[in-house]
Amino acid sequence: MVTSILYIKCASQVVTVSGGSDRPKRGQDMSDIGVIENGSVVIDGGKIAFAGPDAEAVHYISKLNGEVTTIDASGKIVTPGLIDPHTHLVFAGSREKELEMRLKGAKYLDILKQGGGILSTTRSTREASEEQLVEESAKRLNRFLQHGVTTVEAKSGYGLTVEDELKQLRAAKKLSERHPVDLVSTFMGAHAIPMEYKENPDEFVRLVIEEMIPKVAEEGLAEFCDVFCEEGVFTVEQSERILKAGKKFGLKPKIHADEIVQFGGAELAAKLGAVSADHLLKASNAGIGQMAEKGVMAVLLPGTAFFLMEKPANARKMIEAGVPVALSTDRNPGSSPTESLPLIMNLACLTMKMTPEEVLTACTINAAHAIGKADQIGSIEIGKKADLVLFDAPNYQTLQYNYGVNLVDTVLKNGKVVVEGGIIIGTNEGSHPFSTFAN
Ligand code: NIG
Ligand code: FE
Repeated sequence: MVTSILYIKCASQVVTVSGGSDRPKRGQDMSDIGVIENGSVVIDGGKIAFAGPDAEAVHYISKLNGEVTTIDASGKIVTPGLIDPHTHLVFAGSREKELEMRLKGAKYLDILKQGGGILSTTRSTREASEEQLVEESAKRLNRFLQHGVTTVEAKSGYGLTVEDELKQLRAAKKLSERHPVDLVSTFMGAHAIPMEYKENPDEFVRLVIEEMIPKVAEEGLAEFCDVFCEEGVFTVEQSERILKAGKKFGLKPKIHADEIVQFGGAELAAKLGAVSADHLLKASNAGIGQMAEKGVMAVLLPGTAFFLMEKPANARKMIEAGVPVALSTDRNPGSSPTESLPLIMNLACLTMKMTPEEVLTACTINAAHAIGKADQIGSIEIGKKADLVLFDAPNYQTLQYNYGVNLVDTVLKNGKVVVEGGIIIGTNEGSHPFSTFAN
């Protein structure tokens, strides 16, 4: 059988981020990103078949049988497709008024207490149909793709009833089927206490544990379970019960931990052996130490700290303690309305003093570990999915140096070009253009 081979030729650098598929990179290893100067990548059957110096690529191709299409990558760098391991992608409505309120001094948790914040998005999401959620979220997913992101984790948590949580997760499933970007779903019914349970939060916890989790698992709608473990939201004890219940149904635990106050979220993540603890702005030293010991991934969200006008997490302390670190947008309508993972990379450097190498590891192989997909994506290694980005930059440091601009030139998903010259060009099947995907 004649297969079609794609030859990405003579990039100024191929940033492979190899050597971390078995376990997340931590400490000094986060700086080892396997750069190949004047490198080429060969794709065969949607998978990476070769990555190395161009001189060797020519030899490799000469032995293959099949039609070869060449993409000239000179003057550009090639990286693995970026991975966003923490988003609240699927929702309806918008909250720009809350930015005005916060600029005048209102506090994020106070807005939530008064029935705004997450509860405001919950009202709009409840009103939307599943199809409307797919359409609104597809626009956001398009923007992620244009910023070089090829896999996105997406949480529920704006339904807060059995049916509305299922609706959000079903919308995520549809999106993943229709859109080139792959979604990985997380059930987050414990995102806020809805108004109707304000006086009886434990009854809502019961609903999450006894009704939502079994239904989500039965329909196979999520791989992870997450909880907003925070003062005035879910206590450590409630969070533990919910995450343990999720575990029984095969949902792996994640935690929104120590975001606004120091609350013991990092410690709980270590105790439960969570896949990740996310945010961690206020994590204690003891919590960081315990995460390092248990190998719990820290998913850091410097865009959220920026947008909430808070001091970001102490990434340096975590890396030095041996905690593996990943980065994410936290895309949501309240605390981080952006799809630009490259901007988050800039913020990680400039506000948390992560190095360009650490940042690239955090947005590729470590992010893949944070969603349990490091065997398939997150690095340019033989046999992995050919999810790749060509950036219009002569070296990887330029990605962290230029900020607020989009340097993405080409994106490949499963070996197919889906973004060319920065523009979305078509579906994986080559039918309708998904720049108009939502219509
Ligand atoms: O990760 N903190 C909880 N959840 C989101 C915000 C959700 C919202 O404000 O709508 C976060 O910051
Ligand atoms: Fe979040």
